[in-house]
Amino acid sequence: TTSFSLAVVAGDGIGPEVTAQALKVLDVIAPAHDISFATTEYDLGARRYHATGEVLPETVLEEIRGHDAILLGAIGDPSVPSGVLERGLLLKLRFALDHYVNLRPSKLFTGVPTPLGNPGEIDFVVVREGTEGPYVGNGGAIRVGTPQELATEVSLNTAFGVERVVRDAFARAQARPRRKLTLVHKNNVLVHAGHLWSRTVNAVAEEFPEVSVDYLHVDAATIFLVTDPGRFDVIVTDNLFGDILTDLAAAITGGIGLAASGNVNPDRTAPSMFEPVHGSAPDIAGQSKADPTAAVLSAGLLLDHLGFPEAAGKITAAVEADIAERGGALRSTEEVGEALASRVAEGVSVA
Ligand code: IPM
Ligand code: MN
Repeated sequence: TTSFSLAVVAGDGIGPEVTAQALKVLDVIAPAHDISFATTEYDLGARRYHATGEVLPETVLEEIRGHDAILLGAIGDPSVPSGVLERGLLLKLRFALDHYVNLRPSKLFTGVPTPLGNPGEIDFVVVREGTEGPYVGNGGAIRVGTPQELATEVSLNTAFGVERVVRDAFARAQARPRRKLTLVHKNNVLVHAGHLWSRTVNAVAEEFPEVSVDYLHVDAATIFLVTDPGRFDVIVTDNLFGDILTDLAAAITGGIGLAASGNVNPDRTAPSMFEPVHGSAPDIAGQSKADPTAAVLSAGLLLDHLGFPEAAGKITAAVEADIAERGGALRSTEEVGEALASRVAEGVSVA
C-alpha cells in the first residue's frame, strides 16, 4: 500500500460539507488501488481569522508544503473584508506552491440541464495560468476616496511564466483525441501581454505539429462558449480571462455544483491543490444543500495527478451514472456523497 499525505483545507461556508463527501469517496476508492491517505486538517479561513487574526501563518504554509497533495473546499466569508482570505489564503497557496496550471475541465454529462438550446457535445479543458496576470497584486491607489483617486492593477506576464503554461497546454492537447488548442486573449487591445502570449503559442506550436492552433479574443470566446462550445478542446489563457471563462464554462455544463479544478504544479516542486470551482456559498452553508459533486470530481483530478487515472476514471463514471439516474431530483449533500461513494465502491460505470 502506498500512502499519500493529504493536507485538507475545508475552509468556509459549504467548504467543510462538500470536502467531507470528497474524503468519503477517496476513502472508499483507495483500497481498490492499494493506496491510502493520511489526512491533516488545517483550520484556515474565516473562523481562524476572527479567533486569531491569522490568515495563513508561514509555519502552516511550510507544513502544508510537506504534503503530497492538498484538498481544498472553499474560501471566503462575508464577515471578513473582501480580499483578505481570497488573497491571503487561496491565492497565497496558489502562488507560494507555484500552481501555474489551473486546470478546469468542462464536460456536459448526459442528463445535465444546460441553459443552451442546442449544446452539442461539450468536452474541453481550460488551462488557466495560475501565478501571473492581474492576480499578482501589483497595483495601488492614491488619493483614495477623493475625486482625484487613481487606482492601478498591473498584469504581470513573463516569458518564463507564459511559456511554461503554454507548453503544458500543448502537451495536454497532444494527448487528447482532437488535438486542438485555442489561445484566448485580447491582443488587439492588451498588445504588450497579448503579443507575448501569441508569439509564445506560435513558437511552441512548432514543437507540436499535430496540434491545430486557433486564437480568439476573449469577448468572442464568450459568444462561442454559448453558441458553439463543441469547437473547444484545450483553451489556454491568462489568469483573469481564465477565471471568467471557467464560470461561464460551468454555467453551460450544469452549473458550478459540477465544476472541478486542479491547481497544478506540473514540476512537482510543491504539492498541487484540488478544489471545486464554486465558492463558499454562505447563503446555503450548514443546510446540506450544497452539491458535493464538484468537490468529488476534484478529488478525481487529485487521483489522476498522483498517478491513478483508473481510479479517477471510476469517479467520473460514478458521477455520470449518478447524474443520469438522479435527473433533477433534489438531494442532500450527504445523499449525493453516499450515492457517489457506493457507486465507486461497486465500481459501477456507465456503458
Ligand atoms: C476561483 C475563484 C478565485 C479566483 C477567487 C475566490 C480568488 O473565483 O477559484 O475561480 O478568482 O481565482
Ligand atoms: Mn472564479
